[in-house]
Amino acid sequence: MQDIQSIISQMTLEEKAALCTGATVWTTQEVERLGVPSITMSDGPHGVRRVANATGLTSKSIPATAFPTASCTASTWDLDLVREMGAAIGQECVALGVDVLLGPSNNMKRTPLCGRNFEYFSEDPFLSGELSASWIDGVQSQGVGASLKHFAANNQEYQRLCIDARIDERTLREIYLAAFETAVKKARPWTVMCAYNKLNGVTCSEHHELLVDILKKEWGFEGVVVSDWGAVHDRVAALKGGLDLEMPGPKQRRVQAVVDAVRAGELDEAAVDEAVRRILRIVFLAEETVKGGGFDAAGHHALARKIAGEGMVLLKNNGVLPLKNPQRIAVIGRAAQEPCFEGGGSSHVNPTRVDDPLEELKKAAPANTEFTYSEGYPKDDSLRQDLIDAAAEQARAAGVALLYIALPGYIESEGYDRPGLDLTPQQVALIQAVYTVQPNTVVILHNGSAVAMSEWIDGAAAVLEAWMMGQAGGGAIADILFGKVNPSGKLAETFPVRLVDTPAQINFPGEYGQVRYGEGLFIGYRYYESKDMPVLFPFGFGLSYTSFDYRSSRISARTFRDVDGLTVSVDVTNSGAMAGKEVVQFYVRDHQASVARPVKELKGFVKLDLAPGETKTATIHLDTRAFSFYHPVHRRWVAESGRFDILIGASAADIRCVETVTLQSTVELPCILNNESTVREWLEDPHGRPVFEPLYRRLKAQMKEVFGGGEENKSAIGMDTELFFMDMPLSGILDHIPEERLPRPAEEMIEEMLDQVYRRAA
Ligand code: BGC
Repeated sequence: MQDIQSIISQMTLEEKAALCTGATVWTTQEVERLGVPSITMSDGPHGVRRVANATGLTSKSIPATAFPTASCTASTWDLDLVREMGAAIGQECVALGVDVLLGPSNNMKRTPLCGRNFEYFSEDPFLSGELSASWIDGVQSQGVGASLKHFAANNQEYQRLCIDARIDERTLREIYLAAFETAVKKARPWTVMCAYNKLNGVTCSEHHELLVDILKKEWGFEGVVVSDWGAVHDRVAALKGGLDLEMPGPKQRRVQAVVDAVRAGELDEAAVDEAVRRILRIVFLAEETVKGGGFDAAGHHALARKIAGEGMVLLKNNGVLPLKNPQRIAVIGRAAQEPCFEGGGSSHVNPTRVDDPLEELKKAAPANTEFTYSEGYPKDDSLRQDLIDAAAEQARAAGVALLYIALPGYIESEGYDRPGLDLTPQQVALIQAVYTVQPNTVVILHNGSAVAMSEWIDGAAAVLEAWMMGQAGGGAIADILFGKVNPSGKLAETFPVRLVDTPAQINFPGEYGQVRYGEGLFIGYRYYESKDMPVLFPFGFGLSYTSFDYRSSRISARTFRDVDGLTVSVDVTNSGAMAGKEVVQFYVRDHQASVARPVKELKGFVKLDLAPGETKTATIHLDTRAFSFYHPVHRRWVAESGRFDILIGASAADIRCVETVTLQSTVELPCILNNESTVREWLEDPHGRPVFEPLYRRLKAQMKEVFGGGEENKSAIGMDTELFFMDMPLSGILDHIPEERLPRPAEEMIEEMLDQVYRRAA
């Protein structure tokens, strides 16, 4: 490795400032005289979008494998497979001359309407964090950097360049930052890309608390913070806020602004040096991997097919699947010939090849199977009864109808959100017309996030969620329909019944530049479960062609200390006739906490591969964090003493085993009583109670005299005096006692007690 400090000391201020802004749309500035090369970045995340021309933002890219998008990848719940996909993408980066790949996209699916949900993994931060970390591991195992994006709270496309996401700190920590924290700590991405939007009033590219205090200092991030393309508005403010590399370039005025600010004493040159140091580190890291050569296109295509097959989710099956050699199959829907394999925007890959779903079906079918095809719905959104009639006729004459339904291509894209959850009216009418004449109707869906199905699902014999399935997805569908692959995908996001049920709906998409995350922590299943609300398909749900029994759950200890954590196991048996895979999920429920907590939260999962009759054990370790919440006052993670359930199941709504355990906290939290603390808070605080209790006894007696009331504490005006004061600040009660009965002014009494408490606590 080069001596970075020595290089920095030889660089002029102009050279340093220039290095902190891109040289082109995709590359950094080289400093030839000091042997500093330029590096190239390209989009991701589900394949390499290597634009040959460094000034072209959206030009057609060099062919690369288009893997399934994140909704599909996430539904595999298979960290090894995701790592393998990352490694394959890394190999393509090496071949195509890419030093840093712009992915993974790690934002939470706050609402199913977010236009970019197809690029995001999940509504759950634990799952997203683990998947991101594996993906980064894979890419970086090839000597190529990843760029974890978009940091943070880029959860909608509406006004994404300027919207101010207003999020309380606990929600931010537990939901919107947690997946980034896991990925940063576990996988050490070379770069983190800041989001466009504002977070609590501050533009993310200038957000010192986010980029420096949390990311770099608290999480120990050693890499480069790169801007989203065009997210920097004020280069000097961004440098002060911890943004190392501005993209895209060139932007000579921005560079000059940095030079001028340093000369004018408005910007400490040390801040520029720090950004340069970080950038040089990854520039030289990238240089260690020689770029060029080819990649195994056929192998990666096969891998894309495998991932698609593992990520597709069988949502409904009345037994029609796997297909039982029907003589004639009616294939209906444009998506059977125009495969939906990726979404719109910067993640768009130019595939090496694309499998035709209908052709793949024919290849997989027994030799004598007859096929008919009709398009079913037009390319635009218009209503075409003639297409419906033609499809229904073919469906009636066949043994089974396979409906390939994709949301119109432009609907799910970067830059704007979806208008609703429904399929188009033509598609709904088509499905209804087909199942009316054909009981064996299988609906194969292509979308990047939840869609509504209530209008038609009862009539469908089976539903397969095939997502935006990547270039080899056509073959994966055939594999599943004919039972060559036993479906094992499980939803990484809840499918709601209706749009109005969704947690963010009344605070989306915001107004006058602000979006308030009013639902707080309660997104996805955390919301539906707290409201005890029915959903179409719960988080973690997915069917298989076989069945699994869960037995003999066990724990390493019934009572354990937070620092030791807990090991949990369960035996799972394949009780059916076909080999299959099961995603075993572990959730934690807190029985009682000092803050509101979700009914349960995912804290572990294991995917098991089981032959018929075979039993394997799924084991996970739960550390302190699995039991913790982010304390809004202490501003740190806290696991409180008390009872917790470990819920083990096949989905969030299908819990098979429960273990109840007791956690003993070893954390000594500082006392947080203050002069506004309530009666209840004084009584519940271990330091406050002994100091306050003698006074409280006297006060209670005096309150009775003041407010009257004998029996059951009832005062003359019909209230329970004790309850009345319980959640008032102590001053509230003291103010109601006649002055002459208090030894000192109320404020002094409270101050004195606080003194005693803090002396005790020290
Ligand atoms: C997107 C990023 C992407 C960048 C470069 C931005 O508009 O938000 O995800 O990496 O463009 O194409």
